Amino acid sequence: MCTSLKISPPLSSLPPILPAPTPLPPVLAPSHCTASLLPSVSQERCRVCKAGQMGEITNVTEYQAIAKQKLPKMIYDYYASGAEDEWTLKENREAFSRILFRPRILIDVSRIDMTTTVLGFKISMPIMIAPSAMQKMAHPEGEYATARAASAAGTIMTLSSWATSSVEEVASTGPGIRFFQLYVYKDRKVVEQLVRRAERAGFKAIALTVDTPRLGRREADIKNRFVLPPYLTLKNFEGLELGTMDKSNDSGLASYVAGQIDRTLSWKDVKWLQSITSLPILVKGVITAEDARLAVHSGAAGIIVSNHGARQLDYVPATISALEEVVTAAAGRIPVYLDGGVRRGTDVFKALALGAAGVFIGRPVVFALAAEGEAGVRNVLRMMRDEFELTMALSGCTSLADITRSHIYTESDRFARPFPRL
Ligand code: GLV
Repeated sequence: MCTSLKISPPLSSLPPILPAPTPLPPVLAPSHCTASLLPSVSQERCRVCKAGQMGEITNVTEYQAIAKQKLPKMIYDYYASGAEDEWTLKENREAFSRILFRPRILIDVSRIDMTTTVLGFKISMPIMIAPSAMQKMAHPEGEYATARAASAAGTIMTLSSWATSSVEEVASTGPGIRFFQLYVYKDRKVVEQLVRRAERAGFKAIALTVDTPRLGRREADIKNRFVLPPYLTLKNFEGLELGTMDKSNDSGLASYVAGQIDRTLSWKDVKWLQSITSLPILVKGVITAEDARLAVHSGAAGIIVSNHGARQLDYVPATISALEEVVTAAAGRIPVYLDGGVRRGTDVFKALALGAAGVFIGRPVVFALAAEGEAGVRNVLRMMRDEFELTMALSGCTSLADITRSHIYTESDRFARPFPRL
């Protein structure tokens, strides 16, 4: 690891006739830098710094450019892309930027408590890790690194069904509170087995993905003929002949989903899932009040407002825009969480002000993983936490309970109150 790396030419190596060397700008050791200390300027700089053309990483979004440089195009595109026109992909971010703050002042913010409880589990902050598939494509340590980073930060990691590490392998990385994201396969025996394994491996909840009867049309994956690289497997399905993906004239994942995932999935299956597990079930993929009410009636333990990182149906609203109607419909009967476009501590605050009990982050984790493995994921969680704490301080909030709807303005408030021009 290079830390506080400064590069300056060793004076003894300079020929005496040369004028005094112009001091080189210090090369700060960015937290992503994994190159060893460079003894002289003639050697190459850290490959990541060079590739990303960046110095110190100061926000989570910066990891994306580094990941783009480091990863093969097919893999980067898989993580980065959204469905079709990618309108929702952009909107997931832009909708956050249309929400403004109404901070309160002259409040003692010398102590700030960001801790919270999710399904009875205490965590250090309301920022958790969303399920992102196939993380060993980003980094050889893949889901192990993510699990360790989440655990070190005192927060929850959600493991994807389509992970490249199994539930048992992730559990073996050490203690931590973990949820398991579930896709329901046509073969329900496979699902039952997998849920049992997740229970045995100590996973604490199931996040049931409900927005994927078919895979969204991700055009980059189609052009790239995306397929899981042959040196990896979907580890949870290894030995079941479901762990690999065949090349097709399309996205290999879209063909896999078409072949294996149960399109008949309906609300009665939430009941079925409850009949095979005692783990609490979070319904992931709700974006309307109608479905929020059905989720409450189905006995779900919580809702995740999600549009699958804008990878399924394009032109659905940003999750932050859908959040309030879902929260209102859930009426406090079950907690509502959000994922989609969360990149800043200010985004976390906005989601909580609109009634979310916590948020999940996805892409920043895989991009940081690609850039520098576990250290990157730790850094993402640290930056998000620090930014969120600062937002709380600057808004006059010392605990999550202090964050209220009146700390923000949204577009829907335009008619209720004077709204600043954007
Ligand atoms: C994985 O869940 C994906 O949507 O690609």
